[in-house]
Amino acid sequence: MDIIVRPTAEKVGVAAADLIEPFVRRGATLGLATGSTPNPLYMELARRHREEDLSFAECDAFLLDEYVGLERTDEQSYYATIRREFTRHIDIDDEKVHSLNGLAEDPEAEARSYEERIHAAGGVDVQILGVGANGHIAFNEPPSPLDSRTRQIDLHPTTVADNARFFDNEDQVPRTALTQGVGTIMEAHTIVLIATGAHKAEAVKALVEGPVTPGCPASVLQNHPRATIILDEDAASKLER
Ligand code: F6R
Repeated sequence: MDIIVRPTAEKVGVAAADLIEPFVRRGATLGLATGSTPNPLYMELARRHREEDLSFAECDAFLLDEYVGLERTDEQSYYATIRREFTRHIDIDDEKVHSLNGLAEDPEAEARSYEERIHAAGGVDVQILGVGANGHIAFNEPPSPLDSRTRQIDLHPTTVADNARFFDNEDQVPRTALTQGVGTIMEAHTIVLIATGAHKAEAVKALVEGPVTPGCPASVLQNHPRATIILDEDAASKLER
């Protein structure tokens, strides 16, 4: 696992964009995270699209997760969020931005079909990840089996509380979600996890220096052959080694 530390969240975004850009240039399949952390990265990639001819026209993209019960048109759905924060600012074909259907009548069938769509696209070439303050990746809440597949899960109370900032109040945060599994994510060829801010320092310490355990699903990245962790100084502040 490679670790890169940069002074600010904006510089973390630039360092991550430097790793992602070569994949975009060869029309790779991208794995996209939502949430606040990747926004500087997405802004930087959109800038390179505008100013440096970086084209996403040959790329496919797969989202990591989706809330259960929100309409696609709900501005808090991850379907809508990724379009607003990233993909409407670049030239990717909207049809090639794939996400889980949080309104599927049969969530298990939806999860299976999502895995098949990833497989049919040749797998994810580069997966962008954030990490939850509780060590989750995507919505794989601790404890999550390290070989888990795409499935429906209950959100941990800390995740509901963390994500309440995007809603009018905590009661509106969905309690369940569909998420790629830890094992699904581990099949990506390359992984770039980014974390910024002091509130992520404990999770970063557990992910980098702790044991590989379902209690910290992100720790599984220690076993990935091509994972890079990019941190700002606050998120790196509890690392000892
Ligand atoms: C979102 C996702 C989550 C977030 C994590 C961090 O698609 O998969 O695992 O990456 O909750 O969220 P932020 O970046 O908002 O702190």
